Amino acid sequence: MILRKFELGVNSLPQVVNNDPGFLALKNKIFKDTRLDCNQYKDPYLMRRFNVRMRATGVKTYEEYTSVLTKTPDEYDNLLSEITINVTQFFRDTMVFKSLREDIIPLLIYEKCMKNDVSIKIWSAGCSSGEEPYSMAIMLHDLLGEEFDHFKVTIVASDIDDEVLEAARIGTYLARQVVNVPKDLLARYFTKEGDLYCVNDEIKRMVQLKKVDLFSQTGGFGFDMILCRNVVIYFNREMQDKLYMKFVKALRPGGYFVMGNTETLVGEATQYLESIRSRERIYQKSINDDYQK
Ligand SMILES: C[S@@+](CC[C@H](N)C(=O)[O-])C[C@H]1O[C@@H](n2cnc3c(N)ncnc32)[C@H](O)[C@@H]1O
Repeated sequence: MILRKFELGVNSLPQVVNNDPGFLALKNKIFKDTRLDCNQYKDPYLMRRFNVRMRATGVKTYEEYTSVLTKTPDEYDNLLSEITINVTQFFRDTMVFKSLREDIIPLLIYEKCMKNDVSIKIWSAGCSSGEEPYSMAIMLHDLLGEEFDHFKVTIVASDIDDEVLEAARIGTYLARQVVNVPKDLLARYFTKEGDLYCVNDEIKRMVQLKKVDLFSQTGGFGFDMILCRNVVIYFNREMQDKLYMKFVKALRPGGYFVMGNTETLVGEATQYLESIRSRERIYQKSINDDYQK
């Protein structure tokens, strides 16, 4: 995926509201034509993304860009890719994956064994081209070892963007996307074809790819762990509150929530999710709560 140098730092954008009529009309048009509700993103973030496409199409105003979309609807593909930034990597944020591997996942497996529960259900929300859910699948397959066949592991991987979901389905990656994969795991779980690294079928089979718009849909319920990293950062505060509560409801009691390390848990969800690894942004849902499904 294309690296966007300004991705980090979005959290520091002020909650500025842009009431420019051209900007509002553009957001309305996008919703009418694509059903993507731009009002759920932070305005300064959207302005940056629109400006990138305005520069690329050689126009200066929101009104002119609205006309570009009317005349050439294919431009929506470029615009939607621009809005839903897809940058990602296998084992992105190695400290987080280290903690999951050495600490949280072994604990989860132990709990499952104690309860004679063979199902492990994980949701990677905003999975982009699959690197995050495949990293989880590789880690679980490796950790469970010979016990793997005794477990029923499901990793739901969802995104709003068809293009990245298709890339995830194909599951082939460039060297720079797999730099953080430990050498032994790279050799075991990927097949090299020319310059590309292809995720093996045993790993692909563990991951269910799904189109889910987090503004209006869910990936399911009863999850042992939800990862939603580097997604919510672009949403406005109200949407962040709602989304975190959506994750609270989708987790089983005692389930784990992992967020991006530049993101901050806000709103009502702070009552239900306890920080258990603050640096790695890992939370645990309380055992006793009202949101058991
Ligand atoms: C920066 S990527 C994060 C990928 C991965 N979670 C990681 O941290 O490496 C953000 C992803 O969120 C997705 N996204 C943005 N808005 C969304 C929405 N409303 N519903 C679902 N996914 C969305 C984008 O399409 C993009 O693939």
